[in-house]
Amino acid sequence: MFYIGISAYYHESSVFLTDNNGTNCFLKEESFSRIKGDKNFPQRCIKFLIKKFDLKNENIKSICFYEKPFRSWWEIFSYSIKNPLQNKDFLIHHLKNFNKGSIFFYTDINKLINVSRDKIVYSSHHLSHCLYGSSLIKNISDYVYVTCDGVGEGETMSIYTINDEYKIKKIWTNFYPNSIGLLYSTITDFLGFEINEGEFKVMSLSSFGNPIYKNELKEIFDIYNFTIDIDYFEFHKNPAKSFSKKLCDVFGEPYLNITEEANFKKYANIASSAQLILENTMDNLIQKAINLSGKTKVILTGGVALNCKMIHNLSKKNIFEEMIVPPSPGDSGSAIGATNFAFLEQSKSKMLDFNTVFLGPQKKFINKIEIRDNFFTKINLTSDFAKETSAKLIKGEIIASYYGPNEVGPRSLGNTSIFCDASNRETVNKLNLKVKKREYFQPLAPVLLEEDFEKYFSINKSIVKNLEWMGTLCDAKEELYDKYSSIIHVDGTCRTQIVKDEHSLTYKILKNFKENGSDILVNTSFNISKDPVVFDLYDVYVNMKRMNINFVIMDDGLYQTKDI
Ligand SMILES: [Fe+2]
Repeated sequence: MFYIGISAYYHESSVFLTDNNGTNCFLKEESFSRIKGDKNFPQRCIKFLIKKFDLKNENIKSICFYEKPFRSWWEIFSYSIKNPLQNKDFLIHHLKNFNKGSIFFYTDINKLINVSRDKIVYSSHHLSHCLYGSSLIKNISDYVYVTCDGVGEGETMSIYTINDEYKIKKIWTNFYPNSIGLLYSTITDFLGFEINEGEFKVMSLSSFGNPIYKNELKEIFDIYNFTIDIDYFEFHKNPAKSFSKKLCDVFGEPYLNITEEANFKKYANIASSAQLILENTMDNLIQKAINLSGKTKVILTGGVALNCKMIHNLSKKNIFEEMIVPPSPGDSGSAIGATNFAFLEQSKSKMLDFNTVFLGPQKKFINKIEIRDNFFTKINLTSDFAKETSAKLIKGEIIASYYGPNEVGPRSLGNTSIFCDASNRETVNKLNLKVKKREYFQPLAPVLLEEDFEKYFSINKSIVKNLEWMGTLCDAKEELYDKYSSIIHVDGTCRTQIVKDEHSLTYKILKNFKENGSDILVNTSFNISKDPVVFDLYDVYVNMKRMNINFVIMDDGLYQTKDI
């Protein structure tokens, strides 16, 4: 029997299926539609699951939606209706979109599969975040669960505890529009980056500036009481605009071209100020969670937790014993949390428990083998193709990877990646700017064996677990500067991934790479900027041709693209 969780309609839609017996399948709608961050009802994912698992009412235990549909719609509506004339654009938009949202979740499901109504379950938004976090750990009662996002069901911050009998208690909540997540997104918009995508860019940009606007921002957001001065914003009254003229009076002109040096410096200072306010706010929120719960271990979820610079800086304050941020702390990962909610509802005394970030389908489960042979030629000369791959990497080749099960979360962790030698500055720059077409101020991330981490990096041990999925930054040691300076950000940090699993191909490639004289690879996701990560072999072929990458390592060998 399968448990299914769905997150959809607002952020990148995703579906998770598990039988709690080793069969797991996490999918994102963007993988099929090829629309980055696709938030539509994930009909393509569900069709894939129906076909692959012969899904029908009889073998489905439950389908759980990650929040309560009407509540989500109503909470935002009820805030804006308090001032109907001033907020009329937003209200008209919200009413018009009534029938496009999650209210019709059951109808949307039943267009694809006839499921009896008693199998449909609704979790709540922040609880789904929290229960994804709990699926990654064993001793659930040791932790306090903190969620912070833009908004979900009218809530913007929540604190939960779970006892040994799996009783969940919400101990504190903050409400819309008092949202540090929406403030950071508004700054993202102001600086000319896309909301929900550009927050990573603001985080990278912040390292180039100084927080000279921190006092102005503290007037806008109270970092102790977590309240916002709504006069600086328009997200509550205008669906197309996040900030008001009052914010422009503070920061000047929005959407400037940052390729001009003066604009870059100014925007870096704004980004730096927003980053500092975010970190101060989260510092106070975590302290509040620790004080209210008496727990010193923290699971942090919600879209705000994707800010890995914040995680790193929070760890330096030594206020918690441990902090774990799951690999997909935003709404996409909540499909797993929703599944966990339904599982707990039925079992009463058990939760799902995963000790891996690779919960996506195996590549061989996605593709037919004949397709591979139409597009690719196997070129390894021996059975040790990890060694042959490493030899090419050391010679300056950029090589894609497409093996094993897919990763959960926005970061490719080896199984759907592009690698190059991190000590080769020319290749690293080519990969970043020409192949991936990323912003020049965004550094690429390194990956290395766990055993080599301390040689090059330092980190507070309280956040070390997050290195397995690039969930935090760490500090570069002097030894890194000698050979690997091209992967170090301007502030001396790196978004490093460590690899521990000796059976993984990434481990074997790194082990061979080390024998060839280099310890660190660059690991970036297998996509061009603004495109979703590759999913099937068609995507692999098309993207390799577009990016001019010739070689890809798969489960059973090293392949070269054919000319067709
Ligand atoms: Fe959320």
